Amino acid sequence: LLYQRKKMTSGEAPLHDLIKPLGWLLGTWRSEEGFGHYPTIKDFKYGEELQFFQVGQPNIQFSFYAWHADTKKPMHREIGFIRIKPGTNQVALIGAQNTGLAEVEEGHVEGQEMKTETQTLARLSFGTPPAIRKISRIFKRNGDVLEQVLSMETENTPMTTHLKISYQKV
Ligand code: HEM
Repeated sequence: LLYQRKKMTSGEAPLHDLIKPLGWLLGTWRSEEGFGHYPTIKDFKYGEELQFFQVGQPNIQFSFYAWHADTKKPMHREIGFIRIKPGTNQVALIGAQNTGLAEVEEGHVEGQEMKTETQTLARLSFGTPPAIRKISRIFKRNGDVLEQVLSMETENTPMTTHLKISYQKV
């Protein structure tokens, strides 16, 4: 089983034609130097590891695991899938977050850049305020560096950057 999982996550299955435009995301990406900001909170640093892998299906599976820069304690966690509308550069990111948020984002991939924003969002009836209204993300690859900028809108704050981070390929 371990062998099979290793095989599945190391991208040895042939890449499905439909997701070739997203091939540049595949692999493990890590940063100790994430920067967090929002008008309503104190700026913070964090670390994060991203994994994008595929098993031969027309989707990419991902996990995003963040930790506290000093204590290394696990923080934000998210898992999901990315799909492409066949024959187009239109993408969908389907994600579930440890905070109780589930989301479909849509957008486009152009070269080694993918931009998405919330289409539909589901949250807990007992979630902690403020409620999120919209998330937007940009992933961009430059050689062995992957950058992410994430912005969000809450019930109290208009669309503002929350996270900026550059990952190195592991
Ligand atoms: C605060 C959402 C990712 C760390 C917040 C807040 C929201 C939020 C709504 C509260 C803002 C306010 O009070 O006005 C999200 C969403 C994320 C995300 C939707 C991903 C899609 C992350 C990641 C980290 C992080 C990856 C990395 C560790 C924090 C921290 C705070 C915060 C430290 C401040 C908490 C506090 O002061 O109580 N986030 N976040 N977030 N977020 Fe995120």
